[in-house]
Amino acid sequence: MANIINGKLIANQVKNNVKLEVDKLKESGIEVCLAVVLVGNDPASKVYVRNKKLACDKVGIISKEILFDENISQNELVSAIKDLNNDNKINGILVQLPLPRHLDEKEIIRSIDPVKDVDAFHPVNVGKIMIGEYDFLPCTPAGIVDLIDSTGVDICGKNCVVVGRSNIVGKPMAMLLTNRSGTVTVCHSKTNKLIEFTKKADILVAAVGVANFINADMIKPGAVVIDVGINRMQDGKLCGDVDFASAEKVAGYITPVPGGVGPMTIAKLMENTLRAAKKQNSI
Ligand code: GUN
Repeated sequence: MANIINGKLIANQVKNNVKLEVDKLKESGIEVCLAVVLVGNDPASKVYVRNKKLACDKVGIISKEILFDENISQNELVSAIKDLNNDNKINGILVQLPLPRHLDEKEIIRSIDPVKDVDAFHPVNVGKIMIGEYDFLPCTPAGIVDLIDSTGVDICGKNCVVVGRSNIVGKPMAMLLTNRSGTVTVCHSKTNKLIEFTKKADILVAAVGVANFINADMIKPGAVVIDVGINRMQDGKLCGDVDFASAEKVAGYITPVPGGVGPMTIAKLMENTLRAAKKQNSI
């Protein structure tokens, strides 16, 4: 049976370290502040935003929730973000995705000042990661690297397979694993004979967004299996992209859903917000 990777525990360790530094900054008169922008009423987004606020409270970061009606225009939203860029009390800006369809997500992300882009979604920050000169790492992939490190399995030289090629997870994940000298393959919905790739993975990251997409037959015995999926089932329960019940019999290490990757994403957001504040104060 696989060892369960306790994302909650590791996330708490990250947050405790952030809190120590946030408290130190406070003593020198610097308050760390994150602005979270939420457009519309998407229930899942509301839950994510609430969890981000709770994490801020826990580590002593001030959180400003900025809510907009789902009919806000592109210009109004860009203008609101520019105000946040110019507000020197705000260290980090996060626009919760997805945005309503009438908004141009790419332009909205480009309107965030890269030094406040704690998601690391701005093209400037994405480019910096590509050349290894980054200020921020995207929260989910960075959290996953911590989770893999917690197992004691060295990424260097391992066959790493990432299933999913999103800008938020799959692509940056491949980059971070490459930076750590993993041998990385990116698979996706159009990959032929997916099982032939996943079966060879020492480290398998599932980020497809399809419930129970990866089953035990697709996993190499002893592999580290990281499940990024958060799929809501008809009975209201959360379920990952990996069929946990069968996979845990084959994997060496596995993340649960919930309690695996999710808490780490938020902990890394706290770390990035702290880093933004330090950089803006030349610390
Ligand atoms: N929606 C789903 N994941 C994320 C994330 O990491 N950041 C933002 N801003 N929106 C998301």
